[in-house]
Amino acid sequence: MNVDGKPYRTIWREEETGRIWIIDQAALPHAFLLRPLDSAVDAARAISEMQVRGAPLIGATAAYGFALALQEAADDQAMEAARSLLLNTRPTAVNLRWALDRMKAAVADLPIQKRAAAALGEATRLCDEDVRMNESIGLHGLTVLRALADQADGRPLQILTHCNAGWLATVDWGTALAPVYKAHAAGIPIHVWVGETRPRNQGAALTAWELESHGIPHTLIVDNAGGHLMQTGKVDLCLVGTDRTTASGDVCNKIGTYLKALAAHDNGVPFYVALPSPTVDWTLGDGRRIPIEERSPREVTHLRGLDPAGRETEIRIAPEGSPAANYAFDLTPARLITGLITERGLVAASRAALAAMYPEFKYRGSRPDDD
Ligand code: MRU
Repeated sequence: MNVDGKPYRTIWREEETGRIWIIDQAALPHAFLLRPLDSAVDAARAISEMQVRGAPLIGATAAYGFALALQEAADDQAMEAARSLLLNTRPTAVNLRWALDRMKAAVADLPIQKRAAAALGEATRLCDEDVRMNESIGLHGLTVLRALADQADGRPLQILTHCNAGWLATVDWGTALAPVYKAHAAGIPIHVWVGETRPRNQGAALTAWELESHGIPHTLIVDNAGGHLMQTGKVDLCLVGTDRTTASGDVCNKIGTYLKALAAHDNGVPFYVALPSPTVDWTLGDGRRIPIEERSPREVTHLRGLDPAGRETEIRIAPEGSPAANYAFDLTPARLITGLITERGLVAASRAALAAMYPEFKYRGSRPDDD
């Protein structure tokens, strides 16, 4: 996507130097900073500290991190150490494990001296594929948006999204926002309600920044406003991303997604989830077994922002001593989901439908009753 007229991806390899670069999302929306990743440790830190975030981008960063590790040492022990370092950064997005498994499989049978170059090539391929998958999600999602817009009698289609599932959450295009970009480009009038997404405010900081940069009409709301908007007929559809979706179609996404799905269900508002296939965990049927990340309570008790002088600052909003809990994701059961928008098309959130769309990925769970 373009930033100030220049095309960017969220992670890329600079041809001239061979260096890997990222956009530092912890600095957005107040500063647009690029940072190099020179080692697997840099990549692991960038994921843990959420300079990069969003399930597909976490996977892409881990892939480059693995490739960087192999430039230092590429024997089996070094590969296992790099895998473990990167895998332990964040627990919920399954794209992380998927990317590391793919990277290992691509090089494990090669002679040690050939592994580093092969890993770099594989990481670049993985990133290019992510871009293609997301653009394809955008085109399939466009069909969904166009059909709903046809019923809106020329008024802007009202889309509610949560967290950031835009191009910043992927290598490019995004998942939930890819159809929004395609619809905007196709001249379909749209307006996006952007939930701020406490506590880290990915909606306010990142989704709003993306939409503003692209001139897409949007309005920022507090997370708790979603139900009211749906009840008063101001939302035509919800469209969100996911960090891990089970083989049965249960969707794990940013905390607060479940409450929006409940409100959508109660008000007859379609609830769509956009995802590329590497976000499906084919080893799980029951979403209640997905590990939910718990982050620092400080993200709940404190807020970050700019002070009147334009300096980044942090303020406390809770009494000193009050404990806080910070669950980063929640689970939306398949029954609350209208459809999954994948790179292969629209599919029901069910084991049978997912298996029919992806026959090459059979459910590999250990529990027959895991549905
Ligand atoms: O904690 P984050 O910012 O990594 O969480 C990101 C999300 O929950 C996104 O909705 C999800 O990764 C889908 S991104 C295409």
